Amino acid sequence: MRIRGAVLESIGAPRPYTRSRPLTVSELDLAEPGPGELLVRIEAAGLCHSDLSVVDGNRVRPVPMLLGHEAAGVVESGDSDLPVGQRVVMTFLPRCGQCAACATDGLTPCAPGSAANSAGTLMNGDIRLSRDGKPVFHHLGVSGFATHAVVDRRSVVPVPADVPATVASLLGCAVLTGGGAVLNVGKPQPGDTVIVVGLGGVGMAAALTALAHDDVRVIGVDQLSDKLDRARALGVHEAYTPDEAADLKATVVIEAAGHPAALETAIALTGAGGRTITVGL
Ligand SMILES: NC(=O)c1ccc[n+]([C@@H]2O[C@H](COP(=O)([O-])OP(=O)(O)OC[C@H]3O[C@@H](n4cnc5c(N)ncnc54)[C@H](O)[C@@H]3O)[C@@H](O)[C@H]2O)c1
Ligand SMILES: [Zn+2]
Ligand SMILES: [Zn+2]
Repeated sequence: MRIRGAVLESIGAPRPYTRSRPLTVSELDLAEPGPGELLVRIEAAGLCHSDLSVVDGNRVRPVPMLLGHEAAGVVESGDSDLPVGQRVVMTFLPRCGQCAACATDGLTPCAPGSAANSAGTLMNGDIRLSRDGKPVFHHLGVSGFATHAVVDRRSVVPVPADVPATVASLLGCAVLTGGGAVLNVGKPQPGDTVIVVGLGGVGMAAALTALAHDDVRVIGVDQLSDKLDRARALGVHEAYTPDEAADLKATVVIEAAGHPAALETAIALTGAGGRTITVGL
C-alpha cells in the first residue's frame, strides 16, 4: 500500500535543520505484513530526543530511514493473537523471548532485537518499506512518523481502547524509559528523595512515576525555567536549575538529559549510599 512518512535522507546535515531539511515527508510503499507481523494505522506519535540523535549522528543508523519510535495506533490486519481494531502501543525494544538476555531479569536488551534495531530491519531481518523500488530502513522496529506501519508482533503491546492514542504513544518510549528507571532500578522507599536531572518527556515521566510513590520527595532539575514551571505544574515538590540544586543530596538521582554535564550534576547530587541512574544517550 501507499503511505506517507517522514524519511531521514542523510545524517549530520548542518543546523539549523529548518534550513538543511534532513527529513522529507514523502510517499512510500509499505509491503503486506509477513508471518508474525501486523499492519497498524498510526494514530499518534511522540518526538523523542533519540530521534534527533539519529538526525545529528549521535546514534548512527542506516539511511534513508523512516523515523519515529514512540507511537500508538490500531491494528488493521495481520495474522496474530490481536484482533483488527485493537489499539496498540509500539515499543522500540522488541523482545524475542528466547535469547540469553530475554531469559534474565528483563533489564538486559534482547540480543536479536538490538541487532535488528541497529540494522534498521524488523525482528526477522526483513524490510517492508521502500521508495521508488529502493529499501527504506525501519527505525527501531517502529517507524511511527507515518500514516501506517508494519511491525513485528513482538514490538507491540495492546492497550485498552479508552487510553487516548496521544497518551498511549508516550508509553512506547518516554514512560517506558523514565518510568522504568524509577520502577525497575531506582525503587524509591518511603522517606527517600528522588532527583530527576533533565525534564523532557523522559524526565517528566520519571518524575511522575516517582510522585506515584507514597512519602517520596521529588525534585526536578533543568536549565530551562519553562521546564521547571511545567514540572511544578505536574506536581514535583521542588524544581531548580543545576546551580540552584548544587547543595542537595538524594538517594535516587536519574539523569534524563543526554549531556555529560547533566551526568556530572546527577553524580554530584547523589548522596552517600545512593544511586545514580543514567538513561540519557
Ligand atoms: N535509554 C533509553 O532507552 C532512552 C530512551 C529514550 C530517550 N533516551 C535519551 O534520554 C534523553 C532524554 O530524552 P528526551 O526525549 O526527554 O529529551 P529532551 O531533549 O526532550 O529533554 C532533555 C532535557 O534535558 C535538559 N538538559 C539538557 N542539558 C542539561 C543539563 N546539563 N542539566 C540539566 N538539564 C539539562 C534540557 O533542557 C531538556 O529539558 C536523551 O538523551 C534521549 O536520547 C534514552
Ligand atoms: Zn525514545
Ligand atoms: Zn531476546
